[in-house]
Amino acid sequence: MENSDYQFETLAIRTQCPSSQYREHSTPLYLSSSFTFDSAEQGSAIFKGQEEGNLYSRFSNPNTTEFIDKLCALEHCESGIATASGMAAVYTSFAAILVQGDHILASKDIFGNAQYIITQILPKMGVEYTLVDVDDNTAWAQGVKKNTKLIYLETPSNPTLKIADLRFIANIAKSNNIVSIVDNCFATPYLQNPSDFGIDLVLHSATKYIDGQGRVLGGAILGEEALVKKCYEFIRRTGACLSPFNAWILSKSIETLSLRMDRHCQNAKALTEWLQGHKKMERIYYPFLSTSPQQALAKAQMKFGGGLLGFELKGSVQQSMEFLNQLKIHSLTANLGDSRSIATHPASTTHSKLDPIQQLEMGISPSYIRLSVGLENVNDLIQDIDQALYKIK
Ligand SMILES: Cc1ncc(COP(=O)(O)O)c(C=O)c1O
Repeated sequence: MENSDYQFETLAIRTQCPSSQYREHSTPLYLSSSFTFDSAEQGSAIFKGQEEGNLYSRFSNPNTTEFIDKLCALEHCESGIATASGMAAVYTSFAAILVQGDHILASKDIFGNAQYIITQILPKMGVEYTLVDVDDNTAWAQGVKKNTKLIYLETPSNPTLKIADLRFIANIAKSNNIVSIVDNCFATPYLQNPSDFGIDLVLHSATKYIDGQGRVLGGAILGEEALVKKCYEFIRRTGACLSPFNAWILSKSIETLSLRMDRHCQNAKALTEWLQGHKKMERIYYPFLSTSPQQALAKAQMKFGGGLLGFELKGSVQQSMEFLNQLKIHSLTANLGDSRSIATHPASTTHSKLDPIQQLEMGISPSYIRLSVGLENVNDLIQDIDQALYKIK
């Protein structure tokens, strides 16, 4: 779309690929592995990059292009590439930029599989790493080495919702010629735009809020053209591209992202406030919590507090498990960002590949519970949690 002055909601809906000769209003699904050329010369020109055009769906497709154009507009980024999943986005961004002998400085507070890539896969390729607390600016500054090429983090972090100081970290990266990468999937572009703070690449697991209904996997890498091109060259050859079908679903989902995020955030805020008064709560985690020392930073970076919250119950791990088993509406599953509310026990599921010491270093206690607050009526959600809390001994 030409007018980049349009607001978020308009860009999310009106950024669309051109309609075909059938003049359809809603973008159709382009299920085609390859695309034809008008002439042999055109085929050659497109292959050489002298003429723009779709060639083969591992390289580009009208549905993936529309999905990426929307995300670029919403994330204030000039270029992007769609990936098969969030993890494909994470791995691609590392593999496309790092070489043997480099160092990656990353947050400890990240999704377990991202930590696995950094600590188990990259060292096999001769890339060393340092992990720091996401909210410790001194540790970020001190962690930079001569061979540091990448800084990687999530904010809010998975699962304990810690907030990174994006401007501070972007400045460290810029002054040391390091590429900074932020996984923005917990906030979504509706709540936070890392590139506005100087972050180089923004990643998404579109599987979460961007789909918003727990249907398909997808991911994206967004940022400055030269960096995205490196990632594109990697994906184009290694194949972790987004399927046109998933891109079609995700692009339609983006049309309602703002409405859904408003409700996710309202529900999560109301639930957090209710939990604060409950006698069985040991500690509550929410980026906009009035008692959190990170509230001011979170408010400076995010429009609202997000749809995720966490808590520890008073008592043993067994009581947390019992609480989960008593829930009637909340689903027990490892996803998040769905219209359906989800309760997760990170220590035994999403972060179970980390040993108990690593979990504690990340602030994940054995009784920590993460809630992805959905779009149901919040009074029903409160009632569900209330009855489950009442039943635990
Ligand atoms: C913060 C974060 N980033 C990335 C991922 C991976 O995304 P995907 O499941 O789409 O590969 C997840 C999955 O839970 C996540 O929570």
